[in-house]
Amino acid sequence: MSGVVATQEKWNKIYSSAESVGDAVAVLKENSHLLPAQGQALELACGMGRNALFLARQGLETAAWDISDVAIQRLNEEAKAQNFSAGFHAQIRDVVKEPMLPNSFDVIVVSYFLDRSLVPAIQDALRSGGLLFYQTFSRLQVDESGPRNPDFRLADNELLSLFSQMRLLVYREDGCVGDHEKGFRNEVKMVAQKR
Ligand SMILES: C[S@@+](CC[C@H](N)C(=O)[O-])C[C@H]1O[C@@H](n2cnc3c(N)ncnc32)[C@H](O)[C@@H]1O
Repeated sequence: MSGVVATQEKWNKIYSSAESVGDAVAVLKENSHLLPAQGQALELACGMGRNALFLARQGLETAAWDISDVAIQRLNEEAKAQNFSAGFHAQIRDVVKEPMLPNSFDVIVVSYFLDRSLVPAIQDALRSGGLLFYQTFSRLQVDESGPRNPDFRLADNELLSLFSQMRLLVYREDGCVGDHEKGFRNEVKMVAQKR
């Protein structure tokens, strides 16, 4: 079985038994005032599209791409139930094999997906002034939550280096500093703007 098919099967199984789409991630909800009033948005590796649905509710024309056909089917059903048929485009797509075209989006959201090879394509895909919202797991962690494979977790301040060409608007990485019962732990969140 190829790696791509194995990934697709793994996620199809998870989404077949997922109860609901769930809520948008914190980096998007907490910073939604930064979103443009109109434009084109993409949720990359969207799963069941919790962030894409949030973007569509803000009035943005929204694309949502994921390799899992089960996730995309469930997202399309949800979008229809929420009356998002026009201006909402969910697509089964391997984003590594088929990344975004340059200058095609005003907003890109990535949550809990990390493929470092896509960093140049993400930056190129944003139009000038466009925003990237990113939230995912960090290697600095205070418990066992999230993936065990360190490749799927960000090294200390890594997101800042990966997107160092962009203008930083929001960054939070509490790491293991201070009271572990409080704060934003195990993850990193960032909003950055293409210059
Ligand atoms: C941890 S889930 C996160 C889903 C979503 N971003 C969220 O936060 O709910 C990772 C997602 O990446 C997708 N994925 C993995 N490799 C992919 C690829 N090459 N192209 C598109 N999607 C991919 C999986 O199908 C899965 O939905």
